[in-house]
Amino acid sequence: MKKRILIVAGARPNFMKVAPLICEFNKYKSRFEILFVHTGQHYDFEMSEIFFQDLRIPKPDIYLNIGSASHAVQTAKIMMAFERVTLREKPDLIVVVGDVNSTLACALVTSKLNIKVAHVEAGLRSFDRTMPEEINRTITDSLSDYLFVSEKSGLENLKREGINSDKVYFVGNVMIDTLSANLPIINRSDILNEYGLTKREYCVMTLHRPSNVDSPATLSELLDVLSAVSERIKIIYPIHPRTMKMMNKHKFLNKFKKLENLLVVDPLGYIDFIKLIKESKFVITDSGGIQEESTFLAVPCLTMRANTERPVTIKKGTNYLVGRSKTKVLKYVKDILNSKSKKGSIPELWDGKAAKRIVKILSMSL
Ligand code: UD1
Repeated sequence: MKKRILIVAGARPNFMKVAPLICEFNKYKSRFEILFVHTGQHYDFEMSEIFFQDLRIPKPDIYLNIGSASHAVQTAKIMMAFERVTLREKPDLIVVVGDVNSTLACALVTSKLNIKVAHVEAGLRSFDRTMPEEINRTITDSLSDYLFVSEKSGLENLKREGINSDKVYFVGNVMIDTLSANLPIINRSDILNEYGLTKREYCVMTLHRPSNVDSPATLSELLDVLSAVSERIKIIYPIHPRTMKMMNKHKFLNKFKKLENLLVVDPLGYIDFIKLIKESKFVITDSGGIQEESTFLAVPCLTMRANTERPVTIKKGTNYLVGRSKTKVLKYVKDILNSKSKKGSIPELWDGKAAKRIVKILSMSL
């Protein structure tokens, strides 16, 4: 009998993680029947559909159409809808990825129905419970039957939390599977010409964490830092809808747009965005995934957070934690512009084969 597997994605950073898994599961058609569920946590064309086109992800078999709401309401709505799907489809396993609300909601429903859960990107910890993602990760891991870990710090974290090592597999990074598989297409993107940018003469910025963009005080600090950076190098800033909403609410958008060397643009698709990173001088971000992508591409990354759940990007990669400190940002920008930043290396098992390992493990044990 074929095993039925539900693969869940809901928000932008999930799509590049499920793409290689769906592709790999499809090679085992005699063993597995795959149903792909999109919760609809993200729904704008630039936050969802464009990734399906860019990454050639099949249309979801089931779309839950949840949309935005407070954490409790969004999580509860996903749970209610996903429970109905799970009861109807009777899967043998669900696969969740990353750390968004959809990840936690679907893992919780599944484990209460005594169905097995696999968590891809398990074990990452920022040790910062003010981040919603940290709560999502910790609970999802405690519920999971298969924990697929992307960097070695995850092994230590799960051990410390008392999770049985028989359930834990160090498999590498599925985001890097997607990045390496798409490099030939990324190289052909014309996005630099479209925005009149020259290779290594600009930096890319993305900021969307509540801790950075939800209050006027932090937006003001960011404006001050970016104003100083923009005196040294051109900045391109694809702006997340959450940040746009907050900048409008707190009347900051025009202040950012007025900075001469800062180009504010709409969110970009995967191919164009990675091309922008790949050819940039450096990246400024508060995203988790971009810390990993810049490490893989050997592009310096200044992470505007106090901590990271991805310490390998600091120890082995090109990442620096800078918080919102103008002094730190300007120090590293100076180093980078003088070619004095660390060169970095690619972390263990970030070799484009993580999804292969995951599906092989599941094919042997399900
Ligand atoms: C979510 C994830 C975060 C991830 C980020 C990547 C959680 C708790 N957070 O944060 O981990 O880094 O996605 O993008 O799951 N909105 C739109 N269109 C959309 C989606 C959202 O306009 O397609 C706006 C809505 O106003 C919404 C706000 O963005 O209220 C925030 O969206 P939400 O999904 O709640 O969280 P993100 O900040 O996107």
